[in-house]
Amino acid sequence: MREVNGKTRTCGLIGNPVEHTMSPLIHNFLAQEMGIDMVYVPFHVEKGLLDSAVKGAFGLNILGCNVTVPYKSDVIESLVAMDELAEKIGSVNTLVRMESGYKGYNTDISGLFRALSSEGITLKNEEVIILGAGGVGRTVAFMCAANGASKVYLFNRTIEKASFIAEEVNRKVGVSCVEAWRMEDYTKLPDRKYLVLQATSVGLFPNVDDVIIEDEAFYQKVKAGYDLIYSPWETKFMKLVKAQGGLAYNGLKMLLFQAIDAFELWNNCKVPDESAYKAYELLQQTVTKR
Ligand code: ATR
Repeated sequence: MREVNGKTRTCGLIGNPVEHTMSPLIHNFLAQEMGIDMVYVPFHVEKGLLDSAVKGAFGLNILGCNVTVPYKSDVIESLVAMDELAEKIGSVNTLVRMESGYKGYNTDISGLFRALSSEGITLKNEEVIILGAGGVGRTVAFMCAANGASKVYLFNRTIEKASFIAEEVNRKVGVSCVEAWRMEDYTKLPDRKYLVLQATSVGLFPNVDDVIIEDEAFYQKVKAGYDLIYSPWETKFMKLVKAQGGLAYNGLKMLLFQAIDAFELWNNCKVPDESAYKAYELLQQTVTKR
């Protein structure tokens, strides 16, 4: 057990529920690994108490917080400043302490970009397919548009949601590359090789035999598939990508890098690749044991 003393700084996770989070594991590991005197704890915040929780955290000299469901947009009202991209997307998952309150950032976006980069995946001038237009799909669409994808095919069962997000992302990022498509229209995709980001909840444990698209003809068009799910370790989507010769990745590195980006913002440091890799191994062991 690490020593907590009078100088130890505190960071935490604001959300509801927070009981199953893996963030304490990552941050406390990184703090120990890097010799930084910081602890990270979950804060279960009841509805209606968000603003007092953020103000209270500031009053308690808390260094920074992550924010999760259901508060990523509501928390903005309680902040004193916003990072530009977080402001555009209207979603904050990281609070960084400033002189008079907290500044909001979105490291889900920067973390996903870093996770893709770490696998050698680039977005600039790429044609990208996103499967799913829920909260995760929306974040992924912002990330692709903001990082120079030449075209983003945003597929969703409920086309209205995809259309709404496509219009919103194009307008806010100042591009016109995002197009909404009905899920069943994947057969009409031009014959190319695509990067596909799987952002639906289909295939999530325990429904490990489910997949959003079964058709092997679709997977012949996939050069790389990134599933935002990491439980199970290898989703059905990933298996189908691999079966057609594509590269497949799960979403654990996104979880890792959104945490690392927040950790670096709080502690004004750079996490070395070796420490990031050790944290990844720890996460992998934890996820595969579950
Ligand atoms: P999250 O925040 O995880 O993205 P969400 O906002 O509920 O969660 O979105 C879930 C996504 O998975 C949506 O794209 C949803 O499609 P709809 O918008 O049409 O509901 C998709 N999804 C979930 N179950 C699905 C299913 N059985 N078939 C097709 N799409 C599904």
